[in-house]
Amino acid sequence: VNEFSKWWVNGAPGDSISIRDRGLTYGDGLFETIAVRDGNPRFLDYHIDRLFDSCKRLDIPCPTDISDQVREIVAGCTFGTAKIILTRGIGARTYAPPEKPTPTRIIGLTKAQPPPRAVYAAGVKARSCQATVSINHTLAGMKLLGRLEQVMARSEWKDAQIREGLMRSDDGRIICGTMTNVFFVSNGNLSTPDLSRCGINGVMRRVVMEQAPKCSLDCVEVDIHAKDLREADEIFLTNSLIGIWPVSQLDEAELAIGPVTRRLMTELVNVGVAECAI
Ligand SMILES: Cc1ncc(COP(=O)(O)O)c(C=O)c1O
Repeated sequence: VNEFSKWWVNGAPGDSISIRDRGLTYGDGLFETIAVRDGNPRFLDYHIDRLFDSCKRLDIPCPTDISDQVREIVAGCTFGTAKIILTRGIGARTYAPPEKPTPTRIIGLTKAQPPPRAVYAAGVKARSCQATVSINHTLAGMKLLGRLEQVMARSEWKDAQIREGLMRSDDGRIICGTMTNVFFVSNGNLSTPDLSRCGINGVMRRVVMEQAPKCSLDCVEVDIHAKDLREADEIFLTNSLIGIWPVSQLDEAELAIGPVTRRLMTELVNVGVAECAI
């Protein structure tokens, strides 16, 4: 592996944790993946917001100095990816959480390469996946460890031309890509799947929804079915590292990169997602 990377575990340089850590034994923890541009962790406040909110829901004490540590580790990195992994820490061999958990705090930085320009200018090919996302109101929205559903979905194809796969929930609604949130435009109206039952409440999804009114758009969160997909004029994908990727092909259907997607990409450039410039 030629990747430059550095890791801190609980505030000190290192890259190993206990085999009794509940993050490993039960996937009992959370993570954040953050784009680093010119020494800055992009939308760090939004990532920390989601982390704190999820910690509250899971009753994991969230260290308050975590954003300072991220800023410290990314200083000087021009283009990279930072990662926070926060687990409930070491526990006995029982599902019952420790009464006073000491969370394990892992922060890392990896140097990255920007995605090729063509994916923004010409759009990406996507496919529909067989692997589904489980419905679970208790856990919906959080960026939890244990992403086996996405691993199963991503192992369905090897064709490097296909950049993403769309996933449905067990009851057939379109929820997300394997590593992205998804948006649809029909007759000029912007929508994205409702995530109250499953899916990850993406940081870039939040940014797009906040920027939409600047393009005189009102983004609605709705149930989206396969039929809505077929009727969409534009589809695009979002995550913290890519910004927006327009979809130019979904399975056999070809799609134009439409005006709404382009306008939103321009708005993202204005808030610091420079790679969306086309
Ligand atoms: C399943 C899934 N949904 C959505 C997202 C997008 O989240 P964010 O915008 O916070 O990167 C990701 C990111 O990795 C993901 O894996």
